[in-house]
Formats: sequence, structure tokens, C-alpha cells
Amino acid sequence: MNPPLQSGDCFPRAPFRTMRTGFRNERRDLMKATELLIEDHKTVKDLIQELKSAKDKGDLLVRLENEIQLHTQSEEQIFYPAMREYDNELVEHSIEEHQQVDQILTDLVGLTGKDKNFKKKLSELEKALDDHIEEEEGTLFPEAEENLGDQLDRLGEQIENLKKDLSAGGRMAA
Ligand SMILES: [Fe+2]
Ligand SMILES: [Fe+2]
Repeated sequence: MNPPLQSGDCFPRAPFRTMRTGFRNERRDLMKATELLIEDHKTVKDLIQELKSAKDKGDLLVRLENEIQLHTQSEEQIFYPAMREYDNELVEHSIEEHQQVDQILTDLVGLTGKDKNFKKKLSELEKALDDHIEEEEGTLFPEAEENLGDQLDRLGEQIENLKKDLSAGGRMAA
């Protein structure tokens, strides 16, 4: 049986309870790989919309490039390998599309916001990304939900760790 509480007993326990609550929240915040990747898609789409109207495009372009690189690395190093045995053809096709997006992005970064071709190149990038995202969210991700099940949590954790490593290593600097 616990000894009766003294008035001072509650105080030292408070930080412990806070820590435990924080831990549980952190656990609950873990996202599935597909959820994380969908969130990335939204971030990239939002950045493109911002870029269309921004006067100063430099910082936004750097952020867009970083986001796309982190995202494609997450898919190619972690998510696609797990999906190969279920739909190798679509994984191969997706990697080709990443290369196309990468090329358009390289062209875009070589232009300044004032260049008359900038708007055209940005639309080209938007279209390529929209088509690619539609295929992933419409076909590949549902296939992943169906086949990978609980593994998606673990893959989500791996993606978060990879992103932290890539960002910390400065390899994403434009
Ligand atoms: Fe992709
Ligand atoms: Fe994607």
C-alpha cells in the first residue's frame, strides 16, 4: 500500500508526468510513409503556387529544389525499394519521371525570375509533377497500403531519419 501523500509529494512528480506525456505524443505523431510523402507533395505544390506570384523568387526556388530532392531521395532509397516486389514496372516508370523532373528543375534554376522563359519552365515543372503525383497517389500509394500494411510505419520512420541525415549533412544545399 502506498504511504499517504505529503503536501510536497506532488511537485517533484510533475516533470516526470510531463515527460511521459511528451513521449506518448511523439509516438502518436509518427506518420506512415504514404502520409509523409503525401504531405511532401502538398508542400511542393504550395511552393510552386507561391513561386508563380512571388517577386523575389530566389529563396523559394532554393526551398523548392531542397524539398524535391529530399522527397525523391526518400522515395528512391526507402519507399520504392519496398514496392518493387509488388509493382516493379511502376517503380521503374516513377524513377524515370523523377529524372525528367530533375532535368526541368535544373533548367529552371538556371533561369532568373525575370527571364521570359521562367514562367513557361515553371508550368512545365508543375505539369510534370502533377502527373507524377497523380500516379503515385492514385496507384502506387494505394498498392502500398494494400501490400505493406504495418510496414508503412517503419518506412515512415526511416524516411524521417533519412531527411534529418541529408539535411544535417548539408547535402541538400543548393
Ligand atoms: Fe515520386
Ligand atoms: Fe512522390
